[in-house]
Amino acid sequence: MSRRIVVLTGAGISAESGIRTFRDSGGLWEEHDVTEVATYEAWKKNPELVLRFYNERRKQVIEAQPNEGHKALVRLESKFDVQIITQNVDDLHERAGSKNILHLHGEIRKARSTYNPALIYEIEGWELTATDRCEEGSRLRPHIVWFGEEVPEIENAAALAATADIFIIIGTSLNVYPAAGLVNYAPQACPVFLIDPNEVGGTTVRNTIIIREPASKGVPILVDKLLSAYTSK
Ligand code: APR
Repeated sequence: MSRRIVVLTGAGISAESGIRTFRDSGGLWEEHDVTEVATYEAWKKNPELVLRFYNERRKQVIEAQPNEGHKALVRLESKFDVQIITQNVDDLHERAGSKNILHLHGEIRKARSTYNPALIYEIEGWELTATDRCEEGSRLRPHIVWFGEEVPEIENAAALAATADIFIIIGTSLNVYPAAGLVNYAPQACPVFLIDPNEVGGTTVRNTIIIREPASKGVPILVDKLLSAYTSK
């Protein structure tokens, strides 16, 4: 059995692909009020605004390309069992070619029924409109986990974290729970690496090896190191 690497990614890994992060200066939450666009209450109050906000984000995601950070993670699969847990709603890990990707906060290129959450659809193109309906006739909403909503995949993510031999954190401010707490499920002996060009506050209780670089540079450095340091068995 190959060693398992669990990777937790956040907005920072997609920053160099041109997708804005949330909390950096110039980040999305500087310009938009979270409560007006990313909550269920916002959806009830002003669905058009919410749809517009996500349509805009979706357009940018479609235009973006995976960067060297996403691509380097794919190389890890030659020697390791790699499981990516991403907070990102973009599909850049998929388009880079990574195999096992769990989306904690949803997927922007999908919509789901407001009545039956099991009905999930790929959105063709960039636009989800107020008249789009599921096959049972209910309105479609963005397939996004909004603030205040449950994170349906968190138990699966925690179970994956618990099986990590190596844990890597890339480009997340670790501000948002439960995602920020996932590293605590990793076994005590599991080395933890963190790649971020900025200081990440209140990270972890354990020893973390910090690589203070942007993802496009830091991820390839770490991947090369891991590929040469570990054998496949
Ligand atoms: N490479 C790596 N990391 C970077 C880069 C880069 N080029 N540029 C910025 N970063 C780092 C920042 O230093 C910061 O630590 O990425 C992190 C981005 O943090 P946030 O904007 O808070 O994004 P994230 O942690 O993914 O947010 C979590 O919050 O609003 C919600 O649902 C949204 O999934 C998101 C969640």
